[in-house]
Amino acid sequence: MVTEAQTTRIEPRPASGANRVLDVRDLCVSYYTPRGPVRAVNGVSFFLRAGERLGLVGESGSGKTTTALSLMRLLQAPAVIEGGKVLLDGRDLLSLSEEEMRRARFADIALIPQGAMNSLNPMMKVGEQLRDTMRAHMDGESSARRDVRIQEALESVGLRPDIMQAYPHELSGGMKQRVCIAMGILLSPKVIIADEPTSALDVVVQRQVMETLGRVQSDLGASVILVGHDMGLMAQFVDRVGVMYGGKLVEVGPVRDIFKDPLHPYTQLLIGSLPTLQSKEIFKGIPGLTPSLLTPPPGCMFHPRCPKVMAHCSVVIPPLEEIKPDRWVACHLYNGSQP
Ligand SMILES: Nc1ncnc2c1ncn2[C@@H]1O[C@H](COP(=O)(O)OP(=O)(O)OP(=O)(O)O)[C@@H](O)[C@H]1O
Ligand code: SF4
Ligand SMILES: [Mg+2]
Repeated sequence: MVTEAQTTRIEPRPASGANRVLDVRDLCVSYYTPRGPVRAVNGVSFFLRAGERLGLVGESGSGKTTTALSLMRLLQAPAVIEGGKVLLDGRDLLSLSEEEMRRARFADIALIPQGAMNSLNPMMKVGEQLRDTMRAHMDGESSARRDVRIQEALESVGLRPDIMQAYPHELSGGMKQRVCIAMGILLSPKVIIADEPTSALDVVVQRQVMETLGRVQSDLGASVILVGHDMGLMAQFVDRVGVMYGGKLVEVGPVRDIFKDPLHPYTQLLIGSLPTLQSKEIFKGIPGLTPSLLTPPPGCMFHPRCPKVMAHCSVVIPPLEEIKPDRWVACHLYNGSQP
């Protein structure tokens, strides 16, 4: 059984190293629906430093999962990646062949998908599911060596090897999520993307899962993109945070700076809706409707809800700009483009 302390504090860590392991540039993704194209990711650019933890937050439908799936090239029809680059150590994942990309998945960049623990096959023992992943990506290795690696991965997420004989329904939610983390780290990727890894888990188990993710990340020396709604969890886990709104990144910066001094009016409302920095409150939304991505508002996507809206906000799209070191914001209040 799982034997970790139940109340480990997850310390925020400074970003280490300035080198960019992942560089996403002007990523655009649309879903071609019968009612027209939905631009779910609209010119998203950000980078991830080696060993860094970056959070992606935003309301439901803001494009977080679409961004995560695009980085892995796991989107399915009707989604189309319309443009951009995803540079992993300088190599553009979007221009790889299908076979090259298949090899990069798990080995270079891995995803723990949204709802991962519910996507485990209920009819297959855990060990078989892990072996399937290993077979697909380490075809040159003997099955004995693959099993050794599986056991190492299970051990590093705090699970005993005999869990390989269990079916998913025999495990708790936290254990299933650990199995999914083990699957993600089997091939020691440089980048781990975790899409809402703790939703549907109770608070104590959430902390255990996040602590596990943090520990395996440190052991591997990997970088993490954590997708989520829970600002309290972000404050405790990530180094920097990117705030998404209507398929765009509207603010990126060190998590402490963003909590202390949010710049974008949307981020200000987001932070203002939380009682305290240490709160475990889940962001429940701010007044007004999320924008339709089928017929998006012109200019700044946020202008219909923005308390600081100016005349030209409904006309001119504000670009994401670095307005002071490591602080990026897309808002006319800061970019000096007021007429
Ligand atoms: N298969 C699909 N077909 C059409 N539109 C889609 C599809 N999947 C997602 N979308 C649209 O793309 C937008 C972004 O969705 P996405 O799942 O990336 O958001 P999200 O930020 O991950 O939301 P959540 O917090 O609910 O997980 C939404 O407006 C959604 O309606
Ligand atoms: S650009 Fe204008 S509408 Fe958009 S967030 Fe800034 S002030 Fe508000
Ligand atoms: Mg999502």
